[in-house]
Amino acid sequence: MRLVFSPEQIREATIRLASRINQDYNGHQIHLIGVLKGAFIFLADLVRHITVPCSVDFVRLSSYGAGTETSGTVREVMPLVEPVTGRHVIVVEEIVDSGLTLARLLESLERQGPASLRVCTLVDKTGRRRVRIPVHYRGFHVQDGFLLGYGLDLDERYRNLPGIYVMEEGDAPSRNP
Ligand code: IMP
Ligand code: MG
Repeated sequence: MRLVFSPEQIREATIRLASRINQDYNGHQIHLIGVLKGAFIFLADLVRHITVPCSVDFVRLSSYGAGTETSGTVREVMPLVEPVTGRHVIVVEEIVDSGLTLARLLESLERQGPASLRVCTLVDKTGRRRVRIPVHYRGFHVQDGFLLGYGLDLDERYRNLPGIYVMEEGDAPSRNP
């Protein structure tokens, strides 16, 4: 595994994204929706740099199972609790890949009539995008590669790493960095 984004780079990107959100929503209240499980670390760090009034909710979607490629079907494992009607909603993801997960979520949020709806992702991985996703806030752009750490997992492992790593050819999935 090779380090691609250090904890310091992630911190800088997170602060930059939060500042832009604070500017854009100045005078408004926002509702952040974290997509579990992957976004739990990013959202926790992001929210601590948000200065406009905000609330937080989570939705849990799953599309990967145990592999490194999307299965194409998105399951809603844990639905949203709070209604989003009339609220300024920002969906927070740690990574957007094919876009299928978000497309499905955005569609169902849109149906509830939010005041506005935007997407904030730490990593925008565009090489395998299958549907167009409007990403308003993105920390990093990568073309491809399977990333691990800072919430990103391979079969539930490595989420705890403070930096983001890319899996390299010949990596044994069971090895630690
Ligand atoms: P998408 O539906 O293909 O956009 O993928 C959405 C979800 O797949 C993300 O929220 C992640 O949980 C997971 N995912 C996508 N790319 C990666 C990766 O490189 N490493 C780990 N998980 C990933
Ligand atoms: Mg995710």
